[in-house]
Amino acid sequence: MQVVSVKKALDGSVAPDTKVEVRGWVRTRRDSKAGISFVNVSDGSTFDPIQVVAPNSLSNYEADVLRLTAGCSVVCRGTLVKSQGKGQSFEVQADEVRVLGFVDDPDTYPIQPKQHSLEFLREVAHLRPRTNTFGAITRVRHTAAQAIHRFFHEEGFFWVNTPIITASDAEGAGQMFRVSTLDAVNPPRTDTGKIDWSKDFFGKEAYLTVSGQLNVEAYCLALSKVYTFGPTFRAENSNTTRHLAEFWMIEPEIAFADLNDDANLAERFLKYVFQAVLTECAPDMKFFEERQQKGVTERLEKFIQSSFERIDYTDAIEILKKAKKKFEYAPEWGNDLQTEHERYLAEEHVGRPVVVMNYPEQIKAFYMRMNDDGKTVAAMDVLAPGIGEIIGGSQREERLDRLDERMKKFGLHPEGYQWFRDLRRYGSVPHAGFGLGFERLIVYMCGLQNIRDAIPYPRVPGWAQF
Ligand code: 4AD
Ligand code: MG
Repeated sequence: MQVVSVKKALDGSVAPDTKVEVRGWVRTRRDSKAGISFVNVSDGSTFDPIQVVAPNSLSNYEADVLRLTAGCSVVCRGTLVKSQGKGQSFEVQADEVRVLGFVDDPDTYPIQPKQHSLEFLREVAHLRPRTNTFGAITRVRHTAAQAIHRFFHEEGFFWVNTPIITASDAEGAGQMFRVSTLDAVNPPRTDTGKIDWSKDFFGKEAYLTVSGQLNVEAYCLALSKVYTFGPTFRAENSNTTRHLAEFWMIEPEIAFADLNDDANLAERFLKYVFQAVLTECAPDMKFFEERQQKGVTERLEKFIQSSFERIDYTDAIEILKKAKKKFEYAPEWGNDLQTEHERYLAEEHVGRPVVVMNYPEQIKAFYMRMNDDGKTVAAMDVLAPGIGEIIGGSQREERLDRLDERMKKFGLHPEGYQWFRDLRRYGSVPHAGFGLGFERLIVYMCGLQNIRDAIPYPRVPGWAQF
């Protein structure tokens, strides 16, 4: 008897006529007049369930098999045989079907064998992993994460685990969640009425990180090629289909590198991850193609084959101004590009991924390197056809005097960033990096409409359970 996953049972790696045990959750049951039940069992290891053929000669056929409904957990033993029926390669001719857990009330079990709306499934985030859609998303998410680590490892990067609790606002945008052990309603106060942070666990205000970048820069200026991959938090308006309050971010950082090196890295990186998902998640991608978004696989294939176009921000504004297309927001030098502008550039202007470079300094973060023109910084956004910005990055300001000037402009107090300034005082070198929101990547690869479906448990305003 060999215990096998459904994936192994179906993919031909187990010889026909082997005695196997498969375990999983029932998707559907169909009974034939001849006294045979066909039970589809999924264990999440692959997209398809396996068909278990259960004859009425089983001793518990009436007591158990005929009571099986969607969601019941079973252990099935029998012979793995080539299937006669179309649609599946192998099936199990059962000698034994053991039920581990029935479903309390099959009529109210939320995951019925039909197509549920994604909105409904968000209400049952603890059961939605049992659906085709969330099984597929979970496998793609895993495969992408593995590919990301593999890519960096092969390129000689080190993974650095940057802190989740921090005192620095890495983006300087004031979107941090506060972490505190003080009584929120009646915090201790100083004589002057201010909150007395010396009584707090950390003795000062602490927050959840918005980005690991500043911390990983320190490791970059010692180990040369590093990256973070971890959760980040933003108290911004996440009542959109593109924002989460808690999301995962990938942030590589390279030393002795400029913005061009950064763009090259982003290009190699995205292509590598897309290729891995296309190769390793073919059945899941086929499902997304059919059920989420037609053309999503072709979009990835084209992405992998194209070389990225590079356009200066200033030129991009000119291109947009000359465009025949009517935009909701008129493009204007000094303003950030809107998604409609980004999509026009990637889809209609060049028809492949675009890297826009050198943005006006006033719309970009304090740590970005000032260009010689005194008006722009060495920032880049990678724009992908079908979505717009997918990656944001920059060359970092490695000159202490310039960094101080920019921090002053942003109203940031140098005292809070002394350690970050030290990196510019002791052996500073040109360096660059970028950030990719992992869930934005999942949305793009799977053709999803809403980022809340790209993470197992979405954290959004008004979030209440799970
Ligand atoms: O553009 P952002 O704010 O850049 C940074 O955080 C830099 N420190 C990155 C770096 O250079 N190391 O965020 C980076 C990416 C965005 O491109 C987007 O994909 C994602 O993070 N992102 C979000 N994803 C989901 N929900 C949100 N609220 C997000 N905010 C940003
Ligand atoms: Mg950004």
